[in-house]
This record gives sequence, C-alpha cells and structure tokens, in this order.
Amino acid sequence: MCWVVGAARQILAKPLPEKLVPAPRECGYPSGPEVGPRVRVQELFDLSGRTALVTGGGRGIGRHIAIGLAEAGADVIVASRKLANCEETAAQLTALGRRAWALSVDLADAASIDALAAAVLGTVDRIDILVNNAGVIWGAPTLEYPMAGWDRTFAVNVRGLWQLSQRMARHMAERGGGSIVHVSSISGFRGSLEEKEPAIAYNAAKGAVNTLTKDMAVKLARHRIRVNSIAPGAFDTDMMDYVRGEPGRLERFLEQIPLARPGGEDDVKGAAVFLASDAAAYVTGHNLIVDGGWLVRG
Ligand SMILES: NC(=O)c1ccc[n+]([C@@H]2O[C@H](COP(=O)([O-])OP(=O)(O)OC[C@H]3O[C@@H](n4cnc5c(N)ncnc54)[C@H](OP(=O)(O)O)[C@@H]3O)[C@@H](O)[C@H]2O)c1
Repeated sequence: MCWVVGAARQILAKPLPEKLVPAPRECGYPSGPEVGPRVRVQELFDLSGRTALVTGGGRGIGRHIAIGLAEAGADVIVASRKLANCEETAAQLTALGRRAWALSVDLADAASIDALAAAVLGTVDRIDILVNNAGVIWGAPTLEYPMAGWDRTFAVNVRGLWQLSQRMARHMAERGGGSIVHVSSISGFRGSLEEKEPAIAYNAAKGAVNTLTKDMAVKLARHRIRVNSIAPGAFDTDMMDYVRGEPGRLERFLEQIPLARPGGEDDVKGAAVFLASDAAAYVTGHNLIVDGGWLVRG
C-alpha cells in the first residue's frame, strides 16, 4: 500500500468534528450543517414577512420586480424621482394584499440617498431585500461622447447604487442579514457595435456593477448578506426609447435575440424572487442573465 492511500485511510477513520456532522433530514438523506430540516420548495420562494426596497420601482423592470416580490408575499417600498409613478406601483401592490409605500429619491444626489435611507427605516422596522434596479442610459457617438453623459451614468448606476447598498447593508448587518440584488445588464459583459448601442458609459457602468456584485458578495458574506445581480437583455421599457427613435433600429436590435422577442414582466420577476428568497440561500456573487439567449449567441 502506498503512503498516500495509508494516510487517507487514517484521516477517514477519524470521527468528524461535531459541527461538521450532517444533521439528519426528515426525508432521510443528510444535509449540510446549516441547512437543517427539509423545506418545501414553495416555502423557499415564500417572501411572507419580508420587506423589500426597490429603486426605480415606479415603472419598467423595477415595477415588474416589485410586483413579483409582492406576489411572493413581501411588503415593498418603491422609490424613484417621480413619486406619482411609485404611488401607482404601490397601489398595485396594495391591491395584491401587501403593504406598500412610495418614496422619492434622486440616486444622483448623495443627500437624497441618505434621506431615503432614513425615510425607509422610519417607515418600516426592517429591510430584508434591496433591489438596486434604477438606472439610466445616455446614448451618444463614442468619439463625441460627452463627459456629462459619462458622469451622469456613473452617478446613478454605480455611485448611487453603491451608496444605497452600503446604507442598507449596515442595517442588514445589524438585523442579522439580507439579500441585495442589483439590476445590471448584459451590456456589462461585452462590447457592442456603435450602430447598435452607442452608449459607452452605460456598458462600463454595468461592468462596474458586475464586479461590485462579486466583491460585495465576498465582503458582506460574514454579515449574512447575499449579493447577486440580474443581467437583463432587451426589455420593452422606456429605456429602449433610444433605439426606438430611428426607424428600423428596434427591429435590428431584436433580431439579435435567439428567443426573438423582448423581455416582459413574467420574464424578470421570477429571477428577482429567486435571488431575493431562501431558494437562493447558497447563491451569492452570481449574475443571472435574463436575455432570451442574446449573450450566448455571440
Ligand atoms: N430595458 C432594458 O432593455 C434593460 C436592459 C438591461 C438592463 N436594464 C436595466 O434595468 C433597470 C431598469 O431599467 P428599465 O428598462 O426599467 O428602464 P426605465 O423604464 O427607464 O426605468 C428606469 C428607472 O430608474 C429610475 N431612475 C432613473 N434615474 C433615477 C435617479 N436619478 N434616481 C432615482 N431613480 C432613477 C426611473 O425612475 P424616475 O424617472 O421616477 O426617477 C425608473 O423607474 C436599469 O438599471 C437598466 O439599466 C434594462
């Protein structure tokens, strides 16, 4: 017998330390020490008793996500600049039987973000889920791309996202954990042709969000905060107006998608519920691509 096999047998013969011994499961097979008894899949996705904050929840993808979280049982605060839109979403969530609130925030303004954080924690006693959905795009030819467009894009999509995440992460750490979901974009993974997406700052900002997802996931894990992203492809929202302006451009845009259609409400809300919920309890630092196959088409 070689020494490697001998040493392995010796190690295997030793009893496992107490905390590594798998706990028995009701269904008869062993689970990890932190998993505990078996939970039904419906319960894993159930957000009853949780409270979520969704930025940009007044329209578009943010509204889809807010509805999904509410349908899964969460109470939801939606926040953006246009309070009337957020109030409209909140009314939809209330009609679903949830508690919902609308607050205003300008994510390009640091003082406004701090005011939002204070208003949120003055309205509810806990935030379990933060969805950083709000975002802007600034389209302009690359060689003439204005620095104002660059700064605006980074102010909302990166700086504001981070500032709010940090404020909410402090609260979540004190409360014992939480789930943060950024809404990134497949544009953060790749370059794009000038004719199709002349928005260089947007792609760079979403790339920053993708990296932030991973780094935050690693750094916040000790506080039991999971951090993940959703990377949408083309969703039919106001953000697509910059490709609708020119005749035929939207069609050219959609031609690139293997599933041959833009995304809608039912395409994104399940992804958000999954990442926010205990169904993703062992998922952190992940970027869930929801794009009809666009990115893998190459
Ligand atoms: N649509 C797509 O094809 C697509 C693809 C990939 C990724 N995404 C991402 O998905 C997210 C949502 O986009 P969408 O498609 O739903 O676009 P949208 O309809 O234009 O919505 C953008 C949202 O962001 C909010 N927002 C913008 N600037 C803000 C600011 N300074 N402070 C606070 N809120 C602000 C807007 O609310 P107010 O105007 O009321 O402030 C609005 O609710 C964005 O992060 C976007 O980058 C979209």
